[in-house]
Amino acid sequence: MTAHQKAEALRQRKGGRRIAALTADDYPTARLLDEAGVDLLLVGDSLGMVVLGFEDTTHVTLDHMIHHVAAVARAKPKALIVGDLPIHTYDNPEQALESAKALVAAGAEAVKLEGGVRQAGKVRAIVDAGIPVVGHLGMLPQRVIEEGGYKKKGKTPEQVDDIREGAGALSDAGVCAIVFESIIKDTADSISKELSVPTIGIGCGENSCDGEVAVVTDLLGSYPWFVPPFAKPEANLASATREAAHAYVKRVAGA
Ligand code: KIV
Repeated sequence: MTAHQKAEALRQRKGGRRIAALTADDYPTARLLDEAGVDLLLVGDSLGMVVLGFEDTTHVTLDHMIHHVAAVARAKPKALIVGDLPIHTYDNPEQALESAKALVAAGAEAVKLEGGVRQAGKVRAIVDAGIPVVGHLGMLPQRVIEEGGYKKKGKTPEQVDDIREGAGALSDAGVCAIVFESIIKDTADSISKELSVPTIGIGCGENSCDGEVAVVTDLLGSYPWFVPPFAKPEANLASATREAAHAYVKRVAGA
């Protein structure tokens, strides 16, 4: 399938079989997740924290993203590869398009950017150039410094209006899906139902959106130093890694 066919197939999932999306930052993870039938592989700028060890995603550069998108693309997944545009790589429509093209050249099949109404012109510029775009509303990690932390969204009428208007603007601009992050369940649920594009939730409660996305290290339990309250680990790779390394040290160097 071409990138466009994959993006269109994602759009058609609105109200149908729910979308299972995960982040993937490297080749083996992308291959394994794709073999398991994951629909969308997000090379998210969360890799700045869970792979590169930065405090937040504001340190991630386009070069970091190109490096990791290329690794994921080498897995040739059936899943749609979505690459995150890092902070300050989409400050205006021209820059947004250039940055999106750089991720596509590295192997991304769609790009994702954060924000609502003020991003609509940038989304349109990228979509008009033939590159599918995924939106991102609610809690926006690239704004963590301005906002003084990771805060739940969709609580006040102003926040609800902001998300609703943003979702409408992104949808009109041509996104193929929108990530909803840390929006209270009722708000996520009601706005999702109003939209014609699928929503993919993280930290929005169960079944409030048309699908879910998780950071793969939260699913695998491989990044124990920060685990968001909504994470549902299905494995404990941190313990498995420590145990294997301990056994290795014992075998090689003795007790
Ligand atoms: O960067 C990322 O992993 C994301 C998800 C939290 C949706 O944007």
